[in-house]
Amino acid sequence: MDQITFKHDTVLSDVHMHRPNSHHFMTRLTSVGQPVFMSRFRILAESRDDSNSGKGLTNEEKQISPKKGRVTFHEQDEEEGSQENVEPFLDEDGDLDVTHRPRKNSVDDGGRDLVCPIILQQSVPDLEQDEEIVDDEDDEEEHDCSKDIIRIEHTMATPLEDVGKQVWRGALLLADFILSNPDTFRGATILDMGAGTGLTSIVMATTAKTVYCTDVGDDVLRLCSRNVVLNKHIMESTGGEVKVKQLNWLQHSLCTDVDMEFSWTEEEVADLYDNTSFIIAADVCYDDDLTDSLFRTLYRLCSSFNHTCTVFISLEKRMNFSLRHMDVCCEAYSHFKHCLTQLQDLEDGRCRFTVEHVPLNFSQFLLYERIEQLELWKVTASSLAFEQTQSDSN
Ligand SMILES: C[S@@+](CC[C@H](N)C(=O)[O-])C[C@H]1O[C@@H](n2cnc3c(N)ncnc32)[C@H](O)[C@@H]1O
Repeated sequence: MDQITFKHDTVLSDVHMHRPNSHHFMTRLTSVGQPVFMSRFRILAESRDDSNSGKGLTNEEKQISPKKGRVTFHEQDEEEGSQENVEPFLDEDGDLDVTHRPRKNSVDDGGRDLVCPIILQQSVPDLEQDEEIVDDEDDEEEHDCSKDIIRIEHTMATPLEDVGKQVWRGALLLADFILSNPDTFRGATILDMGAGTGLTSIVMATTAKTVYCTDVGDDVLRLCSRNVVLNKHIMESTGGEVKVKQLNWLQHSLCTDVDMEFSWTEEEVADLYDNTSFIIAADVCYDDDLTDSLFRTLYRLCSSFNHTCTVFISLEKRMNFSLRHMDVCCEAYSHFKHCLTQLQDLEDGRCRFTVEHVPLNFSQFLLYERIEQLELWKVTASSLAFEQTQSDSN
Protein backbone atom coordinates (compact mmCIF):
# COMPACT_ATOMS: atom_id res chain seq x y z
CA MET A 1 0.00 0.00 0.00
CA ASP A 2 1.67 3.29 -1.03
CA GLN A 3 -1.04 5.65 0.23
CA ILE A 4 -1.05 6.84 3.81
CA THR A 5 -4.37 5.95 5.33
CA PHE A 6 -5.93 7.30 8.50
CA LYS A 7 -8.26 5.53 10.85
CA HIS A 8 -11.80 6.73 10.16
CA ASP A 9 -11.96 8.70 13.39
CA THR A 10 -8.70 10.58 12.88
CA VAL A 11 -9.27 14.34 13.02
CA LEU A 12 -7.02 17.30 12.27
CA SER A 13 -7.79 20.79 13.58
CA ASP A 14 -8.03 23.57 10.98
CA VAL A 15 -5.73 25.56 13.23
CA HIS A 16 -2.92 23.17 12.31
CA MET A 17 -4.04 22.49 8.74
CA HIS A 18 -3.67 25.98 7.26
CA ARG A 19 -0.07 26.75 7.99
CA PRO A 20 1.88 29.72 6.75
CA ASN A 21 5.17 27.80 6.87
CA SER A 22 6.31 24.80 4.93
CA HIS A 23 8.14 22.95 7.69
CA HIS A 24 6.49 21.19 10.56
CA PHE A 25 9.02 20.09 13.14
CA MET A 26 8.35 17.21 15.39
CA THR A 27 10.05 17.94 18.70
CA ARG A 28 9.48 14.64 20.48
CA LEU A 29 7.04 11.80 20.94
CA THR A 30 4.35 11.64 23.63
CA SER A 31 4.48 8.75 26.07
CA VAL A 32 2.03 6.93 23.79
CA GLY A 33 4.25 7.50 20.74
CA GLN A 34 2.41 10.38 19.07
CA PRO A 35 4.58 13.01 17.37
CA VAL A 36 4.57 16.35 19.17
CA PHE A 37 4.91 19.62 17.23
CA MET A 38 5.51 23.15 18.44
CA SER A 39 3.50 26.16 17.28
CA ARG A 40 3.92 29.77 18.21
CA PHE A 41 0.88 31.99 18.56
CA ARG A 42 1.62 35.69 18.45
CA ILE A 43 -0.62 38.08 20.37
CA LEU A 44 -0.99 41.29 18.45
CA ALA A 45 1.05 44.16 19.85
CA GLU A 46 -0.78 47.01 21.57
CA SER A 47 0.17 49.49 18.89
CA ARG A 48 -2.68 48.34 16.64
CA ASP A 49 -5.68 50.50 17.41
CA ASP A 50 -9.27 49.67 16.73
CA SER A 51 -12.49 51.22 17.89
CA ASN A 52 -13.16 48.62 20.55
CA SER A 53 -10.27 48.50 22.94
CA GLY A 54 -7.33 50.24 21.39
CA LYS A 55 -5.85 46.83 20.65
CA GLY A 56 -6.30 43.98 18.24
CA LEU A 57 -6.66 43.53 14.52
CA THR A 58 -8.86 45.38 12.14
CA ASN A 59 -10.06 43.36 9.16
CA GLU A 60 -7.41 44.68 6.75
CA GLU A 61 -4.68 43.99 9.25
CA LYS A 62 -5.54 40.39 9.96
CA GLN A 63 -2.93 39.00 7.59
CA ILE A 64 -0.11 41.42 8.46
CA SER A 65 2.34 41.14 11.31
CA PRO A 66 2.90 44.41 13.17
CA LYS A 67 6.57 43.54 13.60
CA LYS A 68 7.63 41.82 10.43
CA GLY A 69 5.06 42.99 7.91
CA ARG A 70 4.10 39.47 6.88
CA VAL A 71 1.92 36.68 8.17
CA THR A 72 3.53 35.53 11.39
CA PHE A 73 0.67 34.76 13.72
CA HIS A 74 0.42 31.15 14.70
CA GLU A 75 3.69 30.30 13.14
CA GLN A 76 5.03 26.77 13.19
CA ASP A 77 8.44 26.48 14.80
CA GLU A 78 11.19 27.66 12.48
CA GLU A 79 14.05 26.17 14.43
CA GLU A 80 16.34 25.61 11.49
CA GLY A 81 17.83 29.15 11.52
CA SER A 82 19.78 30.42 8.54
CA GLN A 83 22.33 28.42 6.60
CA GLU A 84 24.89 31.26 6.90
CA ASN A 85 25.24 30.56 10.61
CA VAL A 86 26.46 27.00 10.06
CA GLU A 87 30.20 26.93 10.71
CA PRO A 88 32.06 23.67 10.06
CA PHE A 89 34.82 22.90 12.59
CA LEU A 90 37.46 20.22 13.21
CA ASP A 91 36.99 17.65 15.93
CA GLU A 92 39.78 16.33 18.23
CA ASP A 93 41.13 14.02 15.47
CA GLY A 94 41.13 16.80 12.90
CA ASP A 95 38.06 15.48 11.07
CA LEU A 96 35.70 17.97 9.58
CA ASP A 97 32.57 18.08 11.71
CA VAL A 98 29.63 19.37 9.70
CA THR A 99 26.32 20.30 11.25
CA HIS A 100 23.46 19.22 9.06
CA ARG A 101 20.50 21.52 8.99
CA PRO A 102 17.03 20.39 7.92
CA ARG A 103 16.59 21.10 4.23
CA LYS A 104 14.02 23.52 2.93
CA ASN A 105 11.25 21.72 1.09
CA SER A 106 11.53 22.40 -2.60
CA VAL A 107 8.72 20.12 -3.73
CA ASP A 108 5.81 21.94 -5.37
CA ASP A 109 2.96 20.96 -3.11
CA GLY A 110 0.22 22.62 -5.11
CA GLY A 111 -0.37 25.34 -2.52
CA ARG A 112 -0.76 22.97 0.46
CA ASP A 113 1.70 22.71 3.29
CA LEU A 114 3.59 19.47 3.45
CA VAL A 115 4.15 17.84 6.79
CA CYS A 116 7.83 16.92 7.01
CA PRO A 117 8.46 15.62 10.51
CA ILE A 118 12.03 15.92 11.70
CA ILE A 119 12.86 14.68 15.17
CA LEU A 120 14.80 17.33 17.05
CA GLN A 121 14.71 15.60 20.43
CA GLN A 122 13.36 12.14 20.87
CA SER A 123 13.60 11.76 24.60
CA VAL A 124 11.43 13.82 26.90
CA PRO A 125 13.84 16.59 27.81
CA ASP A 126 13.95 18.34 31.13
CA LEU A 127 12.11 21.62 30.65
CA GLU A 128 14.74 23.72 32.41
CA GLN A 129 17.34 22.22 30.08
CA ASP A 130 15.11 22.98 27.13
CA GLU A 131 14.96 26.59 28.21
CA GLU A 132 18.77 26.70 28.46
CA ILE A 133 19.13 25.46 24.90
CA VAL A 134 16.80 28.19 23.77
CA ASP A 135 18.75 30.71 25.83
CA ASP A 136 21.91 29.93 23.86
CA GLU A 137 20.56 31.64 20.78
CA ASP A 138 19.86 35.34 21.04
CA ASP A 139 17.18 35.36 18.36
CA GLU A 140 15.40 32.43 19.90
CA GLU A 141 15.58 33.99 23.33
CA GLU A 142 14.10 37.24 22.11
CA HIS A 143 11.47 35.33 20.17
CA ASP A 144 10.50 32.82 22.82
CA CYS A 145 10.63 35.03 25.90
CA SER A 146 8.64 37.71 24.21
CA LYS A 147 5.43 38.32 26.13
CA ASP A 148 3.44 38.31 22.92
CA ILE A 149 4.43 34.80 21.80
CA ILE A 150 2.65 31.76 23.21
CA ARG A 151 4.46 28.50 22.49
CA ILE A 152 2.25 25.45 22.38
CA GLU A 153 3.26 21.83 22.01
CA HIS A 154 0.55 19.79 20.35
CA THR A 155 -0.02 16.76 18.21
CA MET A 156 -1.66 16.63 14.81
CA ALA A 157 -4.25 14.29 13.33
CA THR A 158 -5.35 12.46 16.47
CA PRO A 159 -8.06 9.90 17.05
CA LEU A 160 -11.22 11.39 18.60
CA GLU A 161 -10.26 10.44 22.14
CA ASP A 162 -7.10 12.57 21.85
CA VAL A 163 -8.54 15.75 20.32
CA GLY A 164 -7.39 17.69 23.39
CA LYS A 165 -3.81 17.39 22.16
CA GLN A 166 -4.58 19.73 19.26
CA VAL A 167 -5.50 23.43 19.40
CA TRP A 168 -9.04 24.20 18.19
CA ARG A 169 -10.44 27.41 16.78
CA GLY A 170 -12.82 27.73 19.74
CA ALA A 171 -9.78 28.10 22.01
CA LEU A 172 -8.49 30.99 19.91
CA LEU A 173 -11.93 32.65 19.92
CA LEU A 174 -12.16 32.38 23.69
CA ALA A 175 -8.58 33.65 24.03
CA ASP A 176 -9.55 36.68 21.92
CA PHE A 177 -12.54 37.32 24.16
CA ILE A 178 -10.31 37.22 27.27
CA LEU A 179 -7.71 39.51 25.69
CA SER A 180 -10.48 41.93 24.71
CA ASN A 181 -11.95 42.00 28.23
CA PRO A 182 -9.00 41.69 30.64
CA ASP A 183 -10.70 43.75 33.36
CA THR A 184 -13.61 41.33 33.52
CA PHE A 185 -11.30 38.51 34.61
CA ARG A 186 -8.66 40.48 36.53
CA GLY A 187 -7.68 38.82 39.82
CA ALA A 188 -10.41 36.19 39.46
CA THR A 189 -10.42 32.45 40.11
CA ILE A 190 -11.25 30.56 36.93
CA LEU A 191 -12.07 26.99 36.00
CA ASP A 192 -11.18 25.92 32.45
CA MET A 193 -13.01 22.69 31.51
CA GLY A 194 -11.64 20.47 28.74
CA ALA A 195 -8.60 22.73 28.45
CA GLY A 196 -6.61 20.45 26.10
CA THR A 197 -3.20 21.99 25.34
CA GLY A 198 -3.89 24.77 27.87
CA LEU A 199 -3.69 27.72 25.46
CA THR A 200 -6.86 29.43 26.77
CA SER A 201 -5.82 28.94 30.41
CA ILE A 202 -2.41 30.46 29.65
CA VAL A 203 -4.04 33.50 28.07
CA MET A 204 -6.46 33.74 31.00
CA ALA A 205 -3.54 33.73 33.49
CA THR A 206 -2.29 37.00 31.98
CA THR A 207 -5.12 38.68 33.89
CA ALA A 208 -6.70 36.18 36.32
CA LYS A 209 -5.22 35.18 39.70
CA THR A 210 -5.71 31.41 39.60
CA VAL A 211 -6.74 29.26 36.66
CA TYR A 212 -7.68 25.65 37.34
CA CYS A 213 -6.86 24.19 33.95
CA THR A 214 -8.61 20.84 33.77
CA ASP A 215 -9.00 17.89 31.46
CA VAL A 216 -9.00 14.11 31.68
CA GLY A 217 -6.11 11.68 31.10
CA ASP A 218 -2.49 11.91 32.20
CA ASP A 219 -1.09 12.23 28.68
CA VAL A 220 -3.04 15.36 27.71
CA LEU A 221 -2.54 16.81 31.20
CA ARG A 222 1.24 16.29 30.91
CA LEU A 223 1.27 18.02 27.52
CA CYS A 224 -0.74 20.84 29.05
CA SER A 225 1.65 21.11 32.03
CA ARG A 226 4.62 21.41 29.69
CA ASN A 227 2.87 24.23 27.84
CA VAL A 228 2.22 26.04 31.10
CA VAL A 229 5.94 25.83 31.99
CA LEU A 230 6.97 26.89 28.47
CA ASN A 231 4.87 30.05 28.83
CA LYS A 232 5.64 30.98 32.43
CA HIS A 233 7.23 34.26 31.35
CA ILE A 234 3.90 35.45 29.92
CA MET A 235 2.16 35.22 33.29
CA GLU A 236 5.08 36.43 35.43
CA SER A 237 4.27 40.13 35.38
CA THR A 238 0.65 39.65 36.51
CA GLY A 239 1.38 36.85 38.98
CA GLY A 240 -1.35 34.68 37.45
CA GLU A 241 -1.04 30.97 38.14
CA VAL A 242 -2.23 27.99 36.10
CA LYS A 243 -2.85 24.78 38.06
CA VAL A 244 -3.26 21.73 35.84
CA LYS A 245 -5.75 19.30 37.37
CA GLN A 246 -7.81 16.28 36.50
CA LEU A 247 -11.54 16.98 36.21
CA ASN A 248 -13.53 14.24 34.52
CA TRP A 249 -17.12 15.21 33.70
CA LEU A 250 -18.07 11.56 33.99
CA GLN A 251 -17.08 11.47 37.66
CA HIS A 252 -18.92 13.12 40.51
CA SER A 253 -16.00 14.05 42.71
CA LEU A 254 -12.57 15.59 42.29
CA CYS A 255 -9.62 13.29 42.84
CA THR A 256 -7.79 14.23 46.05
CA ASP A 257 -5.57 11.14 46.20
CA VAL A 258 -2.10 12.56 46.89
CA ASP A 259 -0.48 9.66 45.06
CA MET A 260 -2.19 10.57 41.81
CA GLU A 261 -0.69 13.04 39.37
CA PHE A 262 -2.96 16.08 38.77
CA SER A 263 -5.03 15.45 41.88
CA TRP A 264 -6.45 18.28 43.99
CA THR A 265 -5.43 19.31 47.49
CA GLU A 266 -8.20 19.96 50.01
CA GLU A 267 -7.27 23.67 49.90
CA GLU A 268 -7.63 23.75 46.12
CA VAL A 269 -11.05 22.08 46.29
CA ALA A 270 -12.16 24.65 48.86
CA ASP A 271 -10.76 27.49 46.74
CA LEU A 272 -12.57 26.15 43.66
CA TYR A 273 -15.93 26.01 45.43
CA ASP A 274 -15.54 29.26 47.36
CA ASN A 275 -14.00 31.52 44.77
CA THR A 276 -14.61 30.42 41.18
CA SER A 277 -16.35 33.32 39.49
CA PHE A 278 -15.87 32.21 35.88
CA ILE A 279 -15.89 28.87 34.11
CA ILE A 280 -14.61 28.70 30.56
CA ALA A 281 -14.81 25.86 28.06
CA ALA A 282 -13.60 25.92 24.45
CA ASP A 283 -14.84 23.53 21.80
CA VAL A 284 -16.11 20.84 24.16
CA CYS A 285 -19.53 20.10 22.62
CA TYR A 286 -18.99 17.63 19.79
CA ASP A 287 -20.46 14.45 21.24
CA ASP A 288 -23.95 14.30 22.76
CA ASP A 289 -23.02 12.07 25.70
CA LEU A 290 -20.05 14.26 26.57
CA THR A 291 -22.16 17.40 26.22
CA ASP A 292 -24.68 15.89 28.66
CA SER A 293 -21.92 15.10 31.15
CA LEU A 294 -20.39 18.58 30.72
CA PHE A 295 -23.75 20.24 31.49
CA ARG A 296 -24.35 17.92 34.45
CA THR A 297 -20.94 18.92 35.84
CA LEU A 298 -21.65 22.61 35.22
CA TYR A 299 -24.96 22.29 37.05
CA ARG A 300 -23.39 20.37 39.95
CA LEU A 301 -20.63 22.94 40.41
CA CYS A 302 -22.67 26.10 39.94
CA SER A 303 -25.52 24.96 42.16
CA SER A 304 -23.11 24.28 45.01
CA PHE A 305 -21.48 27.73 44.78
CA ASN A 306 -22.67 30.37 47.22
CA HIS A 307 -22.08 33.09 44.69
CA THR A 308 -22.82 33.99 41.09
CA CYS A 309 -20.69 32.28 38.46
CA THR A 310 -20.48 33.14 34.76
CA VAL A 311 -19.74 30.43 32.20
CA PHE A 312 -18.34 31.16 28.72
CA ILE A 313 -18.53 28.35 26.16
CA SER A 314 -17.06 28.73 22.69
CA LEU A 315 -17.84 26.30 19.91
CA GLU A 316 -17.67 25.71 16.21
CA LYS A 317 -20.73 24.37 14.41
CA ARG A 318 -19.46 21.52 12.26
CA MET A 319 -21.94 20.79 9.49
CA ASN A 320 -22.35 17.22 8.26
CA PHE A 321 -24.70 15.41 5.97
CA SER A 322 -27.01 13.38 8.18
CA LEU A 323 -28.63 10.23 6.85
CA ARG A 324 -31.20 10.48 9.63
CA HIS A 325 -32.30 13.94 8.51
CA MET A 326 -31.31 13.54 4.84
CA ASP A 327 -29.90 17.03 5.04
CA VAL A 328 -26.81 18.97 6.06
CA CYS A 329 -27.04 19.74 9.78
CA CYS A 330 -25.06 19.92 12.96
CA GLU A 331 -26.55 17.46 15.40
CA ALA A 332 -23.96 18.16 18.10
CA TYR A 333 -24.91 21.85 17.97
CA SER A 334 -28.64 21.09 18.16
CA HIS A 335 -27.98 18.98 21.23
CA PHE A 336 -25.88 21.74 22.79
CA LYS A 337 -28.74 24.23 22.24
CA HIS A 338 -31.16 21.73 23.79
CA CYS A 339 -28.93 21.47 26.89
CA LEU A 340 -28.79 25.28 27.15
CA THR A 341 -32.59 25.47 27.04
CA GLN A 342 -32.92 22.75 29.69
CA LEU A 343 -30.53 24.63 31.96
CA GLN A 344 -32.40 27.89 31.48
CA ASP A 345 -35.77 26.24 32.20
CA LEU A 346 -34.54 24.49 35.31
CA GLU A 347 -36.28 25.37 38.58
CA ASP A 348 -34.58 23.65 41.49
CA GLY A 349 -34.92 26.41 44.09
CA ARG A 350 -31.11 26.64 44.39
CA CYS A 351 -29.81 28.21 41.26
CA ARG A 352 -31.11 30.20 38.29
CA PHE A 353 -29.43 30.03 34.91
CA THR A 354 -29.70 32.68 32.19
CA VAL A 355 -28.31 32.16 28.71
CA GLU A 356 -27.02 34.79 26.26
CA HIS A 357 -25.43 34.59 22.85
CA VAL A 358 -22.29 36.78 22.85
CA PRO A 359 -21.82 38.80 19.64
CA LEU A 360 -18.38 38.31 18.10
CA ASN A 361 -17.66 42.00 17.72
CA PHE A 362 -14.56 41.95 19.92
CA SER A 363 -11.04 42.44 18.58
CA GLN A 364 -9.00 39.67 17.05
CA PHE A 365 -5.61 39.27 18.69
CA LEU A 366 -4.64 35.91 17.22
CA LEU A 367 -4.55 34.82 13.62
CA TYR A 368 -7.24 32.35 12.64
CA GLU A 369 -10.26 32.50 10.43
CA ARG A 370 -13.20 33.79 12.46
CA ILE A 371 -15.68 31.78 10.46
CA GLU A 372 -19.42 32.27 10.88
CA GLN A 373 -19.72 28.81 12.46
CA LEU A 374 -17.85 30.05 15.55
CA GLU A 375 -20.04 31.01 18.49
CA LEU A 376 -19.61 32.17 22.06
CA TRP A 377 -22.27 31.60 24.73
CA LYS A 378 -22.57 33.11 28.19
CA VAL A 379 -24.44 31.33 30.97
CA THR A 380 -24.95 33.17 34.24
CA ALA A 381 -25.58 30.93 37.23
CA SER A 382 -27.07 32.85 40.16
CA SER A 383 -27.27 31.24 43.56
CA LEU A 384 -30.77 31.93 44.92
CA ALA A 385 -29.54 31.74 48.53
CA PHE A 386 -26.88 34.35 47.70
CA GLU A 387 -29.46 36.61 46.04
CA GLN A 388 -31.73 36.27 49.09
CA THR A 389 -28.89 37.24 51.46
CA GLN A 390 -28.07 40.22 49.26
CA SER A 391 -31.67 41.46 49.20
CA ASP A 392 -32.03 40.90 52.99
CA SER A 393 -28.99 43.02 53.67
CA ASN A 394 -30.26 45.89 51.48
C1 LIG B 1 -11.93 19.51 21.06
S1 LIG B 1 -10.98 19.41 22.51
C2 LIG B 1 -10.85 21.10 22.97
C3 LIG B 1 -9.54 21.38 23.66
C4 LIG B 1 -9.29 22.86 23.93
N1 LIG B 1 -10.30 23.41 24.81
C5 LIG B 1 -9.24 23.64 22.63
O1 LIG B 1 -10.27 24.23 22.28
O2 LIG B 1 -8.19 23.65 21.98
C6 LIG B 1 -12.16 18.76 23.71
C7 LIG B 1 -11.56 18.60 25.10
O3 LIG B 1 -12.53 18.03 25.97
C8 LIG B 1 -11.87 17.09 26.81
N2 LIG B 1 -12.80 16.08 27.35
C9 LIG B 1 -13.46 15.11 26.69
N3 LIG B 1 -14.15 14.33 27.53
C10 LIG B 1 -13.91 14.81 28.78
C11 LIG B 1 -14.34 14.43 30.09
N4 LIG B 1 -15.12 13.36 30.29
N5 LIG B 1 -13.90 15.14 31.14
C12 LIG B 1 -13.10 16.21 30.95
N6 LIG B 1 -12.65 16.62 29.75
C13 LIG B 1 -13.06 15.93 28.66
C14 LIG B 1 -10.88 16.44 25.85
O4 LIG B 1 -9.86 15.73 26.52
C15 LIG B 1 -10.39 17.64 25.09
O5 LIG B 1 -9.30 18.24 25.72
